[in-house]
Amino acid sequence: MDKKVRSASRLHGEVTPPGDKSISHRAAILNSIALGRATVRNFLAADDCLSTLGCLRALGVDFTVSTGDSPTLDITGVGTRGFKEPEDVLNAGNSGTTLRLFAGLLAAQPFLSIMTGDASLRSRPLGRVVAPLKEMGAQIWGRDRDNHAPVAIRGGNLHGITYSLPVASAQLKSALLLAGLSAEGPTVLREPAQSRDHTERMLRAMGARLESEAAWLSLSPLTAALAPLSLNVPGDISSAAYWLVAAAVHPEARVRVTNVGVNPTRTGILDVLQDMGAKLRLENERQEGGEPVADIVVESSELRAVTVKGEIVPRLIDEVPVLAVAACLARGTTTIEDVGELRVKESDRIKNTVQELSRLGGRLEELPQGMIIHGARKLNGAVVSSHGDHRLAMMLAVAGSVARGETVIHDAGAVDISYPAFWRDMERLCSS
Ligand code: S3P
Repeated sequence: MDKKVRSASRLHGEVTPPGDKSISHRAAILNSIALGRATVRNFLAADDCLSTLGCLRALGVDFTVSTGDSPTLDITGVGTRGFKEPEDVLNAGNSGTTLRLFAGLLAAQPFLSIMTGDASLRSRPLGRVVAPLKEMGAQIWGRDRDNHAPVAIRGGNLHGITYSLPVASAQLKSALLLAGLSAEGPTVLREPAQSRDHTERMLRAMGARLESEAAWLSLSPLTAALAPLSLNVPGDISSAAYWLVAAAVHPEARVRVTNVGVNPTRTGILDVLQDMGAKLRLENERQEGGEPVADIVVESSELRAVTVKGEIVPRLIDEVPVLAVAACLARGTTTIEDVGELRVKESDRIKNTVQELSRLGGRLEELPQGMIIHGARKLNGAVVSSHGDHRLAMMLAVAGSVARGETVIHDAGAVDISYPAFWRDMERLCSS
């Protein structure tokens, strides 16, 4: 699908981002191995989380999802021993979180599972998950020397390990925690920098014994079933980020983004936008489902360049493409380093961000592990492509909303992966 975007004369109003993708995946997966029923409100019923639900269905888990603006998942957990051997290949679609978390989940199951995904997912690295799961005792065979899906897993009889993760990755960490729940002995993990901690929060709330301190954690195997956890999923800060940047860079803007999850392991985008001089404030701060939540008000701002690198990177990794739009319009030269992981996301987000924003008149240079962005540029409408990557489709829409003339985005339907109502919300904010 192609989408045409024109510069908006003003950006005003209120918008509520959809439920958090990371938390929705975890709420479905962890509740599936708890014993009993849970109700998950504001569940993200978008393609990635539907891939997770499809895989759970194939393992014999019962659930219903209501449709509408704020879907509810009703799910009945079967316990860590209640899955049935799937009759067919499990398909994770475009979802890295599904593939990696299920690798850990299935590594604990005493039967054969085979997982695959779409072309993008089959090109993304899996070896980082397979190696430690094998060390825990699972039998796993992946394509291309275990580094890519399709992957076959025959699990069971695991033992905990002490492991230093080669990358700060919540998907890898969560896979090992899921396996560790059914292992013998503790699973002790250290990350190079702390990644999002939604799995840890949820596991604790469900009764698991887990100690943690910054980038270190130790999980004890379960001695009793996990308790089902009903929750309201907070809005996704990664989806909110498009409106935060759109309002900050637009000359006539005031937007309130409501019900946004502001877990400190996810709020790097707020810190960086504030460092850039964005007029942004948090209101109505509260707790929902064991996670901090707030409304965020943002207004037209004069932005200046920043340097982004080091420990903050895992706290904003998915927001780098839209941050690049802010940097194109900020005063000065922005450098973004240590984001090599972006090359193995749904697409190569370093190469594609530089290429597509350059088509709109931005001046960006690609670095092996990042990018340099020369700011204070006027953007001009052009024909661009999302490369089938949801986050690129949305960042290009933000760029298009301040570019002169018309921007045509190829493959704009990719937004369905994480934010199916994105185009509707954009139209509403631009015309209200
Ligand atoms: C996610 C973790 C991050 C992030 C992805 C979602 C998760 O990936 O980029 O969009 O839900 O755990 P990595 O774990 O590979 O860093």
